[in-house]
Amino acid sequence: MSLNFNKIYQESINNPEKFWKEASEDIFWFKKPTKILNKSNPPFFKWYEDGVTNTCYNALDFHIDQGKGNKTALIYDSPITGNKSKFTYDQLRSKVSKFAGALKNQGVNKGDRVIIYMPMIPEAVIAMLACARIGAIHSVVFGGFASNELASRIDDSEAKLLVTASCGFEPGRTVEYKPLVDEAIKQAQHKISKMILFQRKGNEVKLNAPMEISWDEAHANAKDTDCVEMNSNEFAYILYTSGTTGTPKGIVRDIGGHIVALKWTMKNIYNIDEDDIWWSASDIGWIVGHSYIVYAPLFKGCTTVLFEGKPVGTPDAGAFWKIISDYKVKSLFTAPTAFRAIKKEDPEGKFFSKYDLSKFESLFLAGERADPDTIKWAENLLKVPVIDHWWQTETSWAISSNCTGIEMMKTKYGSACKAVPGYDVKIIKSDQTLAKPNEMGDIVVKLPLPPGTFPTLWNADQRYKENYMSNYEGYYQTYDAGHIDEDGYIWIMSRTDDIINVAGHRLSTGAIEEVLSEHQSVAECAVLGIADKLKGQLPIGLIVLKAGVDKDNDTISKECIQMVRDKIGPVAAFKVAIVIKRLPKTRSGKILRGTIRKIADNVEYKMPPTIDDPAILDEIKQDLIDNKILNNG
Ligand code: COA
Ligand code: AMP
Repeated sequence: MSLNFNKIYQESINNPEKFWKEASEDIFWFKKPTKILNKSNPPFFKWYEDGVTNTCYNALDFHIDQGKGNKTALIYDSPITGNKSKFTYDQLRSKVSKFAGALKNQGVNKGDRVIIYMPMIPEAVIAMLACARIGAIHSVVFGGFASNELASRIDDSEAKLLVTASCGFEPGRTVEYKPLVDEAIKQAQHKISKMILFQRKGNEVKLNAPMEISWDEAHANAKDTDCVEMNSNEFAYILYTSGTTGTPKGIVRDIGGHIVALKWTMKNIYNIDEDDIWWSASDIGWIVGHSYIVYAPLFKGCTTVLFEGKPVGTPDAGAFWKIISDYKVKSLFTAPTAFRAIKKEDPEGKFFSKYDLSKFESLFLAGERADPDTIKWAENLLKVPVIDHWWQTETSWAISSNCTGIEMMKTKYGSACKAVPGYDVKIIKSDQTLAKPNEMGDIVVKLPLPPGTFPTLWNADQRYKENYMSNYEGYYQTYDAGHIDEDGYIWIMSRTDDIINVAGHRLSTGAIEEVLSEHQSVAECAVLGIADKLKGQLPIGLIVLKAGVDKDNDTISKECIQMVRDKIGPVAAFKVAIVIKRLPKTRSGKILRGTIRKIADNVEYKMPPTIDDPAILDEIKQDLIDNKILNNG
């Protein structure tokens, strides 16, 4: 029995104000909050509403004030380019404070939005922290998104400035950012006033002054700039994520709660102390990268690794072991798909045996379901605990986990362990009643959510309320389904909306359908995520053509695939579009996506009672067999 954990967890649920007041004492405030939680306007809750602080101060200055300026804050390692560097807290602050001055020179002020569209280089982290320093709201866009997605984020955030780089490097291909950015700026209705571009050596691009300036030019007259005082409830950043429709949702993060919660997690969930080396192998464009490459480790004052590489192919399946060994990493956080990729290439762990991992203590996995085979393989190889934990962009930190800094709990393979302090997780069944242990249902969290979670959506209070807080009064709807067992372990089984997880990347099938529908030969379509051994899920498109189309199917498929790549980006990993005669529907015209997915995954399915024409299911099955989709998983 985990007595200590249970006691702490219960305290957090029974008296959240006391719990989070104590946690708030661990961070730096210009003015300490006296009001811990404002519950007067549910579902909009305010943590620490009269507190005054600054995100960047807590990430850098706070540690320097305590004499730790010489300690390494950031280690950058890029097996793709061969570049490596280290920054102490002093050095990082100096760069951040200069770039903050550069942003100010370009007219960026408190509350202005700045889009950051960059590869995994230190300048991306510097840009994020510089925004925080002057109270600008950053919105980082993942490099694998196409111009169209970037344009929609420029429009929604009404960004003043965009920071980018000349290119990113993917194994075997250079991602030229400038043409993508140019196209996005052209497409966006809202016009940004300036672009700052970091020229990567050997890949410099031409800039059109005065609108476009280089990173170096931006520094020309930049002065060191101090942290501005920010109210706790002002916003630190917007991170767009896939929603239930094609329009991405701007998840916002308020400042005070974010610092308190993330700092708390480093010790309590991850058992990381100030002298530890921590590595999150994700991308700064995702929530895991925001929280665990940049913010949480720096709030904690430990050392964080920024890795511009892949688990395989940069150069080999030993890349992760090399980083852990070279920098004496204590814990790694990544997505299960990274380990599946390593396992696929090096099932016997031959690369592993070349490195010294004696300092390595634990592996954390999240972003998608961690299949027991992968966990067991990793445990056998690494001989350390492998911890599956569950969270979302909306929350920015784990909802359920083994809280290893409080008390190590036993692993139940397939479960993401127990609710973390702060989260009162429940299961609600389709009849709207609370589930008993082991009964399946929608996973919800009782309001108020703890600090650090999303207080609203950017410029969309109503969407926040309707989308997340209305179906179950008094609860946050996670859109995950599953059950909680008799020991309180949470089992995440599936999404209840159109979101799929491809290689740990969150995508909306609805957004892909919107793109396919724009093809002039497509009458209707369905996109579904089918099981994939490497990436967890892969999207496939089923397309029905308009009458009288005389192009051949193969050409249409290729055009559709290219359209998704151009409009959403390579990250969608959309490689299969099959032309079929008709789609199975209910009598009221709803496409039976769930049933098609079951057929594709070769799992048992019941004939939906409302199906219009049952014979279509056999046709679909044959189409999937002909296209070698069946048994893919
Ligand atoms: N910029 C531009 N393109 C990118 C990109 C980026 N930052 N990241 C990925 N892409 C591209 C890839 O090059 C690939 O393009 P391609 O179709 O031309 O090959 C496409 O997007 C799909 O990428 P991905 O799904 O990542 O597949 P992959 O085959 O390149 O790599 C893994 C597979 C498992 C190695 C990779 O997904 C991985 O390292 N995952 C780690 C998990 C992770 O970081 N999760 C994030 C949340 S924790
Ligand atoms: P994102 O917002 O990109 O972090 O994606 C969040 C979604 O990923 C969740 O709602 C889940 O569907 C899925 N997810 C994240 N972590 C896990 C996990 N440990 N187990 C199962 N699904 C997970």
